[in-house]
Amino acid sequence: VTTVCLPDDRWRQLLVELPVGVTAVTWDGTGAAPDGLRDVEFLVPPYGSGAFDATQLAGMPKLQVIQLLSAGAEPWLSVRPPGVTLCNARGVHGASTAELAVAGMSSVLRELPAMYAAQREGRWAPRDTDALVEKRVLVLGAGDIGSRIATAVVAFGAQATTVARTARDGVHSMTELPALLPEHDVVAVAVPHTDETHHLVDAAFLAALPDGALVVNVARGAIVDTAALLAELTAGRLHAFLDVTDPEPLPPDHPLWDAPNLLLTPHVGGGTREWQRRGHQLVRDQLVRHVRGDALQNVVAR
Ligand SMILES: NC(=O)c1ccc[n+]([C@@H]2O[C@H](COP(=O)([O-])OP(=O)(O)OC[C@H]3O[C@@H](n4cnc5c(N)ncnc54)[C@H](OP(=O)(O)O)[C@@H]3O)[C@@H](O)[C@H]2O)c1
Repeated sequence: VTTVCLPDDRWRQLLVELPVGVTAVTWDGTGAAPDGLRDVEFLVPPYGSGAFDATQLAGMPKLQVIQLLSAGAEPWLSVRPPGVTLCNARGVHGASTAELAVAGMSSVLRELPAMYAAQREGRWAPRDTDALVEKRVLVLGAGDIGSRIATAVVAFGAQATTVARTARDGVHSMTELPALLPEHDVVAVAVPHTDETHHLVDAAFLAALPDGALVVNVARGAIVDTAALLAELTAGRLHAFLDVTDPEPLPPDHPLWDAPNLLLTPHVGGGTREWQRRGHQLVRDQLVRHVRGDALQNVVAR
């Protein structure tokens, strides 16, 4: 018998299609440990819960697999017990997150926030704005989200340049980044947050961008040095669209709330009404693989 730990009772529905012999407990990591937790082999933590700590994981001595519901897995790498396979949810949130990146980019360029303010005041105030057409867009990341952003902006007449960890056909390496920054009007960040990408977008990175450039971050807040970005926004030199911030949630007195030239959304890239259907499908498929002894997909660490 394989015991799976699911975030809550709604997730039990998926078990109807699982092979005989799988049993479930539900626990979101808070409150008393449920009966059966010590038998758990396969853990599905709640979406956006943050990594469990060593004490929470110590309650599952038979654990073999941690299947996340997010694409970002970095906080789990250091707490993953030895021998436990860590899988992310690459593909579950990618399309909607790329869509939000392009929506935010377009909203800033077409000045939708100012137009909405005029609408609320009953003012008909037409004017020419920027747009994606003919913009040079630099996409950091050539994975699920980055490649979708690149495809989408090209459809609107922009030029897309992609940078990732490994150079390949149509993808530049990170060593080329300093030379590419001054040549682009928009930078979209779609890489994981790791030691290597922490504060990748720092004061020097931002200073290399041309005046009026737009910085878009839908990945993780700490890839951007918030203080350095705030300085550029306040100086009126750069614009930004952020779906993710450092810290999260953004405290009520944080200076980003009042920063000029900034459009902000509260980490909702993956938060669509129907992502759970894709999440269920992923968990179900991964459980079937686990029970059959087949290779798991989306393995981040093993
Ligand atoms: N806002 C939201 O709600 C939301 C939703 C989903 C995901 N995210 C975030 O977005 C991130 C990307 O998601 P994804 O699904 O596109 O991931 P992905 O498919 O795994 O792609 C990640 C890309 O980042 C590149 N990369 C990794 N480390 C790098 C480094 N040190 N320097 C440069 N490039 C590096 C990879 O390069 P290679 O191709 O060369 O390996 C790859 O192209 C996630 O890690 C997550 O943090 C946010």
